[in-house]
Amino acid sequence: MPSITVIGSVNLDIVAKAARLPAPGETVTGAELFRYPGGKGANQALAASRLGADVTLIARVGEDGAADEALALLRDGGVELSQCVALAGVPTGTALIAVAPSGENQIVVAPGANRHLAPNDVDIPVTDALICQLEVPVDTVAKVASEFTGFLAVNLAPAARIDVSVLQRADLVVVNETESAWYGESLGACDGMVATTRGAGRATLEQDGTLVAEAQPPVVESIDATGAGDTFTAALTVALVEGQKPQDALAFACAAGAVATTKMGAQPSLPMRDEVMSNG
Ligand code: RIB
Repeated sequence: MPSITVIGSVNLDIVAKAARLPAPGETVTGAELFRYPGGKGANQALAASRLGADVTLIARVGEDGAADEALALLRDGGVELSQCVALAGVPTGTALIAVAPSGENQIVVAPGANRHLAPNDVDIPVTDALICQLEVPVDTVAKVASEFTGFLAVNLAPAARIDVSVLQRADLVVVNETESAWYGESLGACDGMVATTRGAGRATLEQDGTLVAEAQPPVVESIDATGAGDTFTAALTVALVEGQKPQDALAFACAAGAVATTKMGAQPSLPMRDEVMSNG
């Protein structure tokens, strides 16, 4: 069982399932409303745990009821939360999410406490791998990247300016195709592997601009894509740290990400390992 530490965000997701996504300036009514635990960091932590890793999450939440809701499934899932600290005077991060019947979504995040995870707040435990994303301050990601010596995975989401040293240090960088276009040629600075997801299309794994592996996600009935990229990131990290070959690891991550789209909500949809294996 690999040990994985995730440094990242915790959000409460307020989700409206609507007949379609609104255009700018448009109101779409008639939606159904749900509340789910979310946040890219928390989703990646729980996904890795459900896939069999021993997981610690380092994060910040507010001292509010939203934190209890947002952390509930992590607690149930056995994720180590002693470095997930509640701060007075700031709200827990909140994501407003619209989901269309196709499973496509639009997300706006109010980061709240996630903005307060400062570089000196992080005490990295002994761990096989570290996963970061960009819903916490990029300076914090840069500092841990410079200090950590094990396997480092960085999900460059949401797209943000990041120090080139992080790209050079990461063993694995994960982007979706929108983020890949946003970062453009700067991804050429990556010394490790770069995984690119394309929704239901083929995912790729490249090293130094050379294709190392390519995999097609299984066909599933998608109802909510929220958390699929987080599941992919966690699954690819778990599989690579376990020693799976890049092709097998990428196929495993594609299957995990696809299964995560078949249920509503970020964390309720994160698959257990046997669900991934039976869809791989
Ligand atoms: O990646 C999905 C996540 O992005 C959601 O759970 C939401 O909280 C936003 O952070």
